[in-house]
Amino acid sequence: MVEANFLNMGLHVLTICYLIASVTFILGLKMLSHPESARRGNLVAAAGMAIGIFGTIFLFEHEVDGEKVHLGNIALIFLALAIGSVLGFVSAKKIQMTAMPEMVSLFNGMGGACAMLISLIEFNHYIHSANESVDGTTWLTQELTTVSVIAIIAGLVIGSISFGGSIIAWGKLRGIIKDTTFKGQRNLNMVLLFVLVAAIALFIFKTPVTDDSNPAAWGLTSFNLSLFYGILALSLMYGVLFVLPIGGADMPVVISLLNSFTGVAAASAGFMYNNQAMLTGGILVGAAGTLLTILMCKAMNRSLLNVIIGSWGGAAAAEGAASAEHGAYKEISLSDCAMVMSYANKVMIVPGYGLAVAQAQHTCHELEKILEEKGVEVKYAIHPVAGRMPGHMNVLLAEADVNYEKLLEMEQANDEFKTCDVVLILGANDVVNPAAKNDLASPIYGMPILEVEQAKNVIVNKRSMKPGYAGIENSLFYQPKTSMLFGDAKKVLQDLCAEIKTLG
Ligand code: TAP
Repeated sequence: MVEANFLNMGLHVLTICYLIASVTFILGLKMLSHPESARRGNLVAAAGMAIGIFGTIFLFEHEVDGEKVHLGNIALIFLALAIGSVLGFVSAKKIQMTAMPEMVSLFNGMGGACAMLISLIEFNHYIHSANESVDGTTWLTQELTTVSVIAIIAGLVIGSISFGGSIIAWGKLRGIIKDTTFKGQRNLNMVLLFVLVAAIALFIFKTPVTDDSNPAAWGLTSFNLSLFYGILALSLMYGVLFVLPIGGADMPVVISLLNSFTGVAAASAGFMYNNQAMLTGGILVGAAGTLLTILMCKAMNRSLLNVIIGSWGGAAAAEGAASAEHGAYKEISLSDCAMVMSYANKVMIVPGYGLAVAQAQHTCHELEKILEEKGVEVKYAIHPVAGRMPGHMNVLLAEADVNYEKLLEMEQANDEFKTCDVVLILGANDVVNPAAKNDLASPIYGMPILEVEQAKNVIVNKRSMKPGYAGIENSLFYQPKTSMLFGDAKKVLQDLCAEIKTLG
């Protein structure tokens, strides 16, 4: 009696642990939406996750031969936790900001693989709990409901697609896998998707579920088993083939989409185990990933379908770059640049991917302070897809303690450019390319851009005349009010700071 009460109390405490975990996930996500609270948000959600994990390890119990028992293999669980934590901690500490999408993709792939393995293991539990296997039919003793069948198959399919796709996305971002297109690829993908959906429907309808009135219907035939492993293979293949042709510039959108898939797969696993924390976490990841995907597509003025089949930044874009013709561009010397900026009333800095590559955010902040000491008003114009991941520029500048008040969103910045004497573009290219507004044939046509040409002077810092990530030329660099300041952003900014200081 005392023992039963004690067990019940454990269950209540576990429910409270899951509730705390769910609340911290929501709070953490809310805090992540502002750079100032983002770090704390991450820690809050991680603490909630730890409560959920340790609650499960020590309080969860399940029935074995009519008896309630706690989780076994505790030593193995802790060994896995230790290995995972060390690997996660070391790689997160070592990773460069520019390689962050790569790491997100890899971690996301691991999430997908977990959901896939959970479905595999759960399905095998049913098979191993079978009391006999005759004539190719496995007779089940454990209850298998339609809802469990759907949850198992959803976790398997979505998790495998996410795993296969994320690994390809990771390989592409690392540069070890090239964009691969071949004739009939789109049709092959459509056929594969159709076969996969048909196989899933067949599996759901043909898998006999527990029916007390007809115990003979409890068996799984070799057809059910082959169909299950066939669906696993098809899903993995579809994940790989779906991401393989997508252009490099679209990878962040694809990663966000795959991330939302992983969330849904984790929610299915939560459903399978009746685990509220896993369910909430999965739903939050699924919803956040979907919203982020929509927002990124909106910022590029493209539909998700166009991203998936458009192959942006691939071979077609590179050809466009080679055929484009422009006049001459003009260069500006460091001392002239220092002069123009020192005597300006207002300077707008436009950071881009190159600033992140050069790790020049601290020197950029230093330039801002030096200019302000001279009475120049300095602000930053942030394009929503500048860099290689959502919020990339905000995170980068926050790292250098740039005041958030100085960061203008695209619409605000576009209203203010006309009041600027100088716009200093640091390693940005596509996000200031006028082709997005006036070249119907351009792959970036329709993407809202920072309209920097409204300012009196435009100074562009980059290392060469090479195109940006979309692989297309930028006519801004050839406009009369634009001057090029070549060199690595960090080196140029250091020299510029020194030069401005000498102006007294
Ligand atoms: P990009 O168009 O990629 O241009 C970056 C420029 O930085 C390059 O032209 C490069 O020219 C220059 N650069 C590289 N290293 C440099 C260094 N060390 N010092 C100075 N300059 C350097 O960057 P962007 O304007 O930020 O646009 C982002 C692109 O990524 C867009 O096409 C966007 O659609 C795409 N994208 C972003 C996201 C997110 S969420 N951020 C999502 C999907 C797609 P040089 O080689 O000549 O130096």
